[in-house]
Amino acid sequence: MTASANKGFSSSFGVIMAAAGSAVGLGNIWRFPYICGKYGGGAFLLVYLFFVFLIGMSLLMCEFTVGRRTRRAPVKAYPALAGGKKGWMAIGLLGIVTCFLILSIYLVISGWTLNYFWESVTGTLFGQSGVGFDVHFGDFAAHSVHRVIFMLIFLLLGLVVILCGVESGIERLSKWLMPILLVLIVALCVRSLTLPGAAAGLDYLFHPDFSKLGGEGILAALGQSLFSLSVGMGTMVVYGSYIPADDNILKSSIWITVCDVAIAVLAGVAIFPAVFACGMEPGQGAGLVYVVLPAVFQSFEFGAQLFAILFFLLLSLAALTSAISLHETLTAFLTDAGMKRTPAAVLVAIAEGVLASAVAISFTGETALTAADRTFFDWMDYLTAYVLPPVCALLTVLFVGWIMKKDDINDELSNHGKLSTPWFDAFYHVMVRFVAPVALATVLVLGMMGYIK
Ligand code: TRP
Repeated sequence: MTASANKGFSSSFGVIMAAAGSAVGLGNIWRFPYICGKYGGGAFLLVYLFFVFLIGMSLLMCEFTVGRRTRRAPVKAYPALAGGKKGWMAIGLLGIVTCFLILSIYLVISGWTLNYFWESVTGTLFGQSGVGFDVHFGDFAAHSVHRVIFMLIFLLLGLVVILCGVESGIERLSKWLMPILLVLIVALCVRSLTLPGAAAGLDYLFHPDFSKLGGEGILAALGQSLFSLSVGMGTMVVYGSYIPADDNILKSSIWITVCDVAIAVLAGVAIFPAVFACGMEPGQGAGLVYVVLPAVFQSFEFGAQLFAILFFLLLSLAALTSAISLHETLTAFLTDAGMKRTPAAVLVAIAEGVLASAVAISFTGETALTAADRTFFDWMDYLTAYVLPPVCALLTVLFVGWIMKKDDINDELSNHGKLSTPWFDAFYHVMVRFVAPVALATVLVLGMMGYIK
């Protein structure tokens, strides 16, 4: 069975919305603001923008090209472009393992988010006067059963969408959700910016403080730029295999990158001014949206519950389309190996359900696992954000730059000569062959030396 038997996306708009749906997720709204806070606000933002537009977007185009050229999932796509040499399967396999690990952690955090959404709707999030939100978060994080149930609900929602198909499930949902997401986040920005004292938050987000950046911050910015665009793992190879033959890959990639960056910056604009207006601490780390934001909402003179509902709805919906893209990558890997779509998607759901449950109960409390002073969560976060994606991304650019035929790449990016591609030589010879590999390798090596002291 060939992957071309898969139904693909129906239009350019569908491609952009589906891929932006994958890109825009917890990475933009939960992770970006907190690591931006940790590494000096504007300084981190600048480095991040540089990496996203240069390295991230180049990778996006490489993955799309590999996917559309072969119409296969990553494990078979790379050997198909290397004259059938099986060894190149390694890039695809590494991506699959990474997707599998990322999805487990992603599901757990999505489960927290769904739970917060539910508690905002029922009002229990605010009902417990006297209990700090950090205690509330800790309580929740310590209740394994809750964590597992909400995570499973989320997993099932994604499975249903995948079973509806690429076009009628993933594409259709993304076309609806992405515009809604934009409206929700703009509404939150307006609220945040109209609070007294909001300007300090904007200053924090946009004024670069390079003293807090350091090597670790630069590594974090690179990791974030890959994670945020969903590249370096084969997800965009799979989505690339669904792109219509006449779609302009460069144009779509630019739009997807702009959407992704815009949502991350808007998330910062929605969060930091409100945090400052309430006199809270911006560099809180992973708890920023779960601990600080509820307190911020609670201090609003009006609309606390409404804004909490909107925010956690936004975060859940953004997470859903991203989790779906990871689930779809694993499903496509199995269907490309000959399995039918329904059993493949269900098998992935079962395997992820088991792994994510293990992750959920090993976070904190009595069941917490730790090794070398780091919790299991920290290790997973480190591996899935800082190590595996850059390694896989590095292999991908090396493959496209040095193994794949140059004419094949240009042929694919120009839609068989129908589009003019005057930028191609610069993109190929400068970015793909040299700048991206050198940047990825340097940051990877330095980062690992710095992290494992
Ligand atoms: N990009 C998503 C986010 O920012 C996460 C994600 C989805 C992802 N699919 C991926 C990350 C594939 C890496 C690879 O939340």
